[in-house]
Amino acid sequence: MTNLIVANWKMHGTIGDTLKRLTEFRFKLAETTGLEIVFALPFTTLYSAHIALQETDFKTAGQDLYWELEGAYTGEIAGSFLKEAGCQYVLIAHSERRRLFGETDETANKKVRAALMQELIPILCIGETVEERNAGQAMEVLERQLKRALQEIAMTDLKHFVIAYEPVWAIGTGNNATVEQVGEVHSFIRNTLAKIYDAPTADQVRIIYGGSVKPDNAKELLRVKNVEGLLVGGASLVVDQFIKICQR
Ligand code: PGA
Repeated sequence: MTNLIVANWKMHGTIGDTLKRLTEFRFKLAETTGLEIVFALPFTTLYSAHIALQETDFKTAGQDLYWELEGAYTGEIAGSFLKEAGCQYVLIAHSERRRLFGETDETANKKVRAALMQELIPILCIGETVEERNAGQAMEVLERQLKRALQEIAMTDLKHFVIAYEPVWAIGTGNNATVEQVGEVHSFIRNTLAKIYDAPTADQVRIIYGGSVKPDNAKELLRVKNVEGLLVGGASLVVDQFIKICQR
């Protein structure tokens, strides 16, 4: 399975900034990394980024989508629009969307279905808060988030999935989860998927880690069993740091 590195630029970057950063990244990164690299960008920059990356192996992702096909939903973006703008992936239920914009496991489920309908690969984000972890509820929360977001999702669809484990307490704080914590949670996620579906299906899902990934912890995190990639926020905006994360 090819490891996946996703750069989540969040709400950063005009079209000009984005193209400048992508061009610099493209020319500074050594030819082959053996990794699949995806840029999750603000909606307004996606199409220009897609054109700029056309002759490369780099891909793009939306940071969200709405579940309806079209209609009177002011401000929302349909999966087909992302597809047309060149995206192959879409982030779903990032913790910032859950925390700041009221997303729930139920809306995550609707978004997962909408993404699959457009043949966009969902990067489903799950993660516990610090209170939940301190109360010993992390696994329970993760299991609930997974089960609800995957409700009535067919086994054949699951193999295209990416699940991102993003402990809320590790995002943007500089405190990444330890390799032990990540190993424990990722194997729990794999086992939970095997229980909901079956082991061969669970083995095809890429489980990636996000939360304060930096050049100095990326390599050790990628060596952890059941970690097939990273979701990188802050450090992905600094070209030299992101290159270090992507280099072997
Ligand atoms: P961070 O963000 O790397 O800045 O912690 C990760 C994320 O929100 O996906």
